[in-house]
Order: sequence, then structure tokens, then C-alpha cells
Amino acid sequence: LFAGETDFLKGVVAMDGMPPADRIEVCFAGRSNVGKSSLINAVTGRKALARTSNTPGRTQEINFFTLADSHYLVDLPGYGFAEAPVAVVQKWQRLLKAYLSGRQTLRRAFVLIDARHGIKPVDEEILNLLNSSAVTFQVVLTKVDKLKKGQLDKTVAQVSAALQKHPAAFPELVLTSSEKGDGIPTLRQIIAELV
Ligand code: GTP
Ligand code: MG
Repeated sequence: LFAGETDFLKGVVAMDGMPPADRIEVCFAGRSNVGKSSLINAVTGRKALARTSNTPGRTQEINFFTLADSHYLVDLPGYGFAEAPVAVVQKWQRLLKAYLSGRQTLRRAFVLIDARHGIKPVDEEILNLLNSSAVTFQVVLTKVDKLKKGQLDKTVAQVSAALQKHPAAFPELVLTSSEKGDGIPTLRQIIAELV
């Protein structure tokens, strides 16, 4: 699946701009700056496919990427703090929520959590939305290269405990570093098995 072509299809700013829901897709959601775009680049093996930045709020559209011409990978704008005007942020947050709760062909939402920070109240809000929309989600811990083993164990315990109250959560966490490559083959395999 990942040996084939991956390409940018389009950036969407409103629900009526979505590509037709005619194929299975998976999306990457998470707080601003958690590493969604970097993870898409790591998973596809394309360094600059999705634009990344140090500044929270880099991705402001819903970006669709074609995977092997038959599926979509979807990079979402972040939630939580972003360096952008409030009105703009509110607009993309509404779009994000409409997408997560209403996209028919969304097979799984990967919810990215910074391994240093664990689940925050803004994450809980999104997990609740996914639950109430019956969208299966799976947590991906990001930036594991920034932690020592003991710290990582703590986050894994916190996140696993928090997921127990979410029936739509897939229990297995994926521990990743887009920078070092940890967990990337595992994530590719999970996606390949889904689509
Ligand atoms: P928004 O689009 O703003 O919501 O952010 P995003 O979630 O797409 O994050 P992005 O991929 O742009 O990455 C944010 C910052 O984190 C960048 O400076 C990345 O280089 C850095 N980063 C992403 N993944 C990793 C990782 O695995 N390890 C380390 N050390 N840094 C990372
Ligand atoms: Mg981004």
C-alpha cells in the first residue's frame, strides 16, 4: 500500500468542498503542534508532503492525500491553542468537528497525543465527540524521542486508564517518533490492515 503513489489531493475549508465519500479514509487528529503533519510525512516516507512547523496552527485546512489511488489519508487542523486569529480558529474548529462526526467513509481516527503531556481536557472533548459519533479511534503517542523510558511508561498508563471510559477507543496505543522512526512500520501496518 505504501509502496505506491501518495499525493496531495486538496485542502478543504468547508464541508461542501470535501471530495466525494467514495473510498475508505483514515485521519490524523490532535492538538496543535502535536505532530500530525510530521506523522503523515513519516508514514508515507515523503519528507515534505504535509507542511509542518514549529508554530502551533500550521495546518488550517483539512488536507486530503491519496494513498495508492484507492484511499485517503487526511491531515486535520489542530485543536487547542493556535497562533491564529480567534475567528479563524473558530471556523476551522467547527469544520474539524463536522468532519469528525459526519464523514461516512472515515474508518478510523488516529488521535495524536504528545507523549510528554498525555491526555488534556481539549483531547477529552474530541474523544467524547468521536464516541458519540461512533467513530473508532486509536491513540498515537508522538515525539517519544523526547522522553526517557520511565516518563513514557507514565504517559502510557495515564492514557490507557483514560481510554477505558471510551467504548469507541481501540485499546492498543501506538508509540511513535516521526523524527527517529519509532512505531512508523507498526502504524503503516495498522493502516494497511484497515483499508
Ligand atoms: P498543526 O498543523 O499546527 O496543528 O501541527 P501538527 O500537529 O501538524 O504538528 P507538526 O507536524 O507541524 O509538528 C510540530 C512540531 O513538532 C515541528 O517542529 C516538528 O518538527 C516537531 N515534531 C513532530 N514530530 C516529532 C517527533 O516525533 N519528534 C520530535 N522531536 N519533534 C517532532
Ligand atoms: Mg499540521
